[in-house]
This record gives sequence, C-alpha cells and structure tokens, in this order.
Amino acid sequence: MQEVKQSTRIVVVGSGGREHAICDVLVREGYHVIATPGNVGISKSAECTDQDPRQLTADLFVIGPEAPLVEGLADDLRAQSKLVFGPGRSGALLEGSKDFMKEVAAAANVPTARYATFTDVDEAISYLSNKVGPYIIKTDGLAAGKGVLVTSDLESAIEDVRAKLSGASFGQAGTKVIIEDFLSGREVSVLAILDGERAVLLPAAADHKRLNDGDLGPNTGGMGAFAPVEWFDESLQQQTMDRIITPVIQELKGRGIDYRGVLYAGLMVNDGGPSLVEFNVRFGDPEAQVVIPLLEGGFGSVLFAAAGGDLSQVDLKPNGAGAVVVMSASGYPNSPRRGDKIVGLAAIEDNSAVRVYHSGTSVDQDGDLVTSGGRVRGITALGKSKEEALERAYAAVSRVAFDGAHYRRDIGVGR
Ligand code: AMP
Ligand code: GLY
Repeated sequence: MQEVKQSTRIVVVGSGGREHAICDVLVREGYHVIATPGNVGISKSAECTDQDPRQLTADLFVIGPEAPLVEGLADDLRAQSKLVFGPGRSGALLEGSKDFMKEVAAAANVPTARYATFTDVDEAISYLSNKVGPYIIKTDGLAAGKGVLVTSDLESAIEDVRAKLSGASFGQAGTKVIIEDFLSGREVSVLAILDGERAVLLPAAADHKRLNDGDLGPNTGGMGAFAPVEWFDESLQQQTMDRIITPVIQELKGRGIDYRGVLYAGLMVNDGGPSLVEFNVRFGDPEAQVVIPLLEGGFGSVLFAAAGGDLSQVDLKPNGAGAVVVMSASGYPNSPRRGDKIVGLAAIEDNSAVRVYHSGTSVDQDGDLVTSGGRVRGITALGKSKEEALERAYAAVSRVAFDGAHYRRDIGVGR
C-alpha cells in the first residue's frame, strides 16, 4: 500500500498553515506531495515549487486558499483533464460574494440571518437607522476575513458603511455591502466534504477569532481552535446536514454547479438549532490544523473520492482530539513585524503528539528561521481529549520564543 501511495502524486496549492496541515497528513499517509509554492515548514517533508499548478502533473490537485478558487483555478485544471479537489469559479462564489451566498441560502430555505444588500450609501444608512442593533455590516467580496463589522453603535455602523461603499476600506470588494440581522448563540465551524451529490461532515471545530483573551481586541484570521466540539452533538450534526448542507448541494446542482471540495459552514447555534453565518469554500485556517490530523489514515482517500465524484464508499473514522494555539507576530493584525528570530522549535518537533504548522516564517540570510507574516505559526497537539490536547499544545508553545510573540492563553476555555 505504502509503495502504491509513494507513486501517487498530489499537488497542494497554497502557502499557509492550512496547507502545511494538508501536506503533513498526506505525507504521513505515504503520498508523494508537491506544494506550490509551499512554505518553509512544508519544505522539510515535501517538495516545494514555484511552478504554476497548470504546468504540473499529478494524480490529484488540492487547492487550499479561496483566492485561486474564486479566480477559477479548479476550472482551468479540470479543463486539462486533471482530478481536482476544490470547487470551480461558480461554486467558489459562495465565498467570493456574500450576496450570492445569501441568495443561494434563501433559495434553499436554509436558516440564516435576514439581510439586505446595498450599493447606495443613503439607502444603506436609512435602512440602518430604522433597525435595532447590534449591526452587522459585511463586504460583498473577499476581504481576508476582515470585511465584517459587528457593532452596537449606530454611528460606527454608519461610518463603516460609508468607508466600505466609497471603496476606501476594501476597494472594489467593499462597494456592495450586506447588512444583516444579529444572530445570538454559540459559534462553530463545520467542514463538509462534497462530491457534487453528497457530503461527509468532519468533526466540528471552534475557532477563536479575536486577538486577545476573553474574546477582546480586533478580529483576526483565527488565533486558535480545537476539535471536536463536544456540545455539537449528533442531533446538531444531523440538523446541519438536513437543513443546510444537503439543501445547498441540491440548490447548486439545480444551477448546474458540481461542487467537489470542502464547504465550510460557519454556524451560530441557539435554541432554534444551527443558523448559517457564512460559507467558505476551503478548509478553515486554523480549523484545518486541528481537524485534518484527526483524519490521518483516511484523509487522502476522502480527497480522491470527493474529487472523483463518489463519496459513497467513504467511512471516515476521526480519531481523538486536536488543539492549536496560533503564535502571532508583534503588530498583528495591523502591521506585523518581520525578521524576529524564532528559537526552540527543535525541542518540540520530536514530540509525536505535537505538529508545528508554519505560515508566516522564512529563512534569513544567516540561515535562521525568522518571522515573516502575521500569524507566524500554529502549534497543534493531539490527545485523547480536548483537555489533553490543549495541555500538550500550551506546553509546546511555552518552549518556543521570538521577540514580540503573542498568543491567547484561553483557547478552549468556556467553549
Ligand atoms: P463572517 O466573516 O461572515 O464569518 O463574520 C465574522 C464574524 O462576525 C463571525 O465569525 C461572527 O462572529 C460574526 N458575525 C457575522 N455575522 C453575524 C451575525 N449575523 N450575527 C452575529 N454575529 C455575526
Ligand atoms: N478561521 C476562519 C476562516 O478560515 O475563515
């Protein structure tokens, strides 16, 4: 089996912590992995190349980030008869346009917040002024996870609408906004693998989006996560499948969209069950870093099955629990500092329960590992339970250092 896999080539597109987790698990399963462009961490166990994926040959292409999906990379590769895990441009619009996402959700009768779409400042302000807060304002287009304002203050909401619609804050991506009703409840990220017809749900994960402990500070790409989420029980999973995922697959099919890849449903769960907050068309980051390692042994097969359009034989058996603590650079998220030397990694990399997933790192002229981006790296640990995984992750984090390193001390607390 191992030999067969070694001759099976998988190209992974992307360069973040998410792609590091994807590559790491595929390498552990014995596949020959080529990352484009990859990162410093990935290059330790897999081949990295700067070549355009359209120039590469492989048995499977896995597209990590949203931008190339929204730009249609999956369509280009499929047009070359390649096997691809990731939706084409039309499916990726679920993340590329919140207006489209809300329209599909409404057509599929999916529970989600009431909303209205605006391009005109005066109309948007008049709508806001007649509403009660909290106010939720979202850019229509991609904004790297930063296009959403949640505020109870009407003045700030109006200011945000002006900044977005004028193009000042997010350029073209912001010149259409969605104003949504506020949903209360507990948040959870559910990743579903789709083959165009059916879906398999992965263990639910809890992300921690704010920079600081106690959910304070600015929104970030995600400062830590754990999976599975115990309170998100079988009944909630079934409701998610029946009320959200399955109707959306049917709705997409009806529009001629054959969605093969991962559909990330950001949910708010309250007494009424799960409501849809957002769809992403890729694995979450940092959710991938805690969910994918639990699938080791069956991850590659599920990617192949989804890309090939037949998940019917897949029987995933997720194992144990995972927790990730993200270490960010000084100045993140506004202006992360680069070039701080990172020490202590070797000591934790030997621990088989610990995985260091790089995102903002590079090697400087002296050959030292340094910070080169906001979220520098995530330290994932595995265990039998969430508590064990968290304890191991924090023990590892305490041994790694760089100037200005920041991380949350309360990942998993109270969730
Ligand atoms: P999004 O990028 O759409 O996931 O929004 C970012 C974050 O804003 C979410 O993770 C939620 O915490 C919050 N949020 C977005 N929409 C709503 C909503 N309708 N009600 C309450 N919170 C929301
Ligand atoms: N962790 C949130 C996201 O990947 O969008």
